Amino acid sequence: MMADSKMIAIVGATGAQGGGLARAIVADRNGPFRARALTRHPGSDKARALAAVGAEVVAADLDDPKSLEQAFAGAYGAFCVTNFWEHFSAEREYTQAGNMARAAKTAGLQHVIWSTLDDTRQFVPLDDDRMPTLLGQYKVPHFDAKGEADQLFRDAGVPTTWLRTVFYWDNLVHFGAGPKRGPDGTLALVFPMDDKKLPAIAAEDIGKCAYAIFKRGREFIGKTIGIAGEHLSGAEMAAALSRALGEEVRYNSVSPDVYRSFGFPGADDMGNMFQFKRDFNDYYRQSRDVKLARSLNPELQTFEQWLAHNHDQIPVD
Ligand SMILES: NC(=O)c1ccc[n+]([C@@H]2O[C@H](COP(=O)([O-])OP(=O)(O)OC[C@H]3O[C@@H](n4cnc5c(N)ncnc54)[C@H](OP(=O)(O)O)[C@@H]3O)[C@@H](O)[C@H]2O)c1
Repeated sequence: MMADSKMIAIVGATGAQGGGLARAIVADRNGPFRARALTRHPGSDKARALAAVGAEVVAADLDDPKSLEQAFAGAYGAFCVTNFWEHFSAEREYTQAGNMARAAKTAGLQHVIWSTLDDTRQFVPLDDDRMPTLLGQYKVPHFDAKGEADQLFRDAGVPTTWLRTVFYWDNLVHFGAGPKRGPDGTLALVFPMDDKKLPAIAAEDIGKCAYAIFKRGREFIGKTIGIAGEHLSGAEMAAALSRALGEEVRYNSVSPDVYRSFGFPGADDMGNMFQFKRDFNDYYRQSRDVKLARSLNPELQTFEQWLAHNHDQIPVD
């Protein structure tokens, strides 16, 4: 670690996105940055694992602006992410984003990356009844509040890169999105995307891309960029899964209405999300650039590569 290295404060360092960034920073021992991991639970196993590889671990809570100011103080930059799925409240997510933007300003940070998604209401106004309005004022709550919060970083006047992420292939392991066995015993990957391609990524690669964005600083300040590992159709994903699992996986394209009715927590939000990605597929794919992601992170994984490392963790019974 270089003695004069600059500190990056990392929200979500114990999670997927921030964890990838923290690991990228500490792995680059002679690199320009140090990692400060923000967590509500500095004693947790994940926080201790980060400390063990050389990250500084500090307590902070996105709901507590003072704690963020303290955790950002003295840093060069910050990686900012919120976790909608912990509380399912778009308003709370928006407030947390504002807390980070204002704390970044107070701390005088020179570069913030805000991990964001699109405000889908710019494409599907609330009165467009192709999909239901959720939580009173959203179409895709876990997207819309992040997109709406983009402005908070502009308003705060912090040098920001708006980083648009995509579906993690890791959802096949951790988010119940893996193939399901049908009544005939065959595995099926179920998405309401018809034949449209889904930009997606290995979650670990998001942090690796963020690392390069910090390294290339000036180039990406003030810019909105989107990344992906690959854009694949459901049929292409099913074919790759069949090869990796050694068992046939079919792609079962259902309607967004059917998907929304599945009943798991957030099924309506996810159904609207896939419908947005299907109906605005050209826009959505253009905004998620595989070439840019690979130029930032030459280790960027394809779906095949991700499967080679992770296929045995995909729950299929
Ligand atoms: N799954 C996908 O395909 C996907 C794709 C694109 C975007 N996203 C977005 O990614 C976000 C989640 O990021 P992730 O997957 O990297 O997270 P994750 O692995 O689920 O972990 C959540 C992280 O957020 C931190 N956190 C949550 N609430 C906090 C609070 N109040 N104060 C401080 N830290 C807090 C947690 O830290 P501690 O618990 O240690 O405090 C933890 O590090 C979601 O908003 C989701 O919409 C997901």
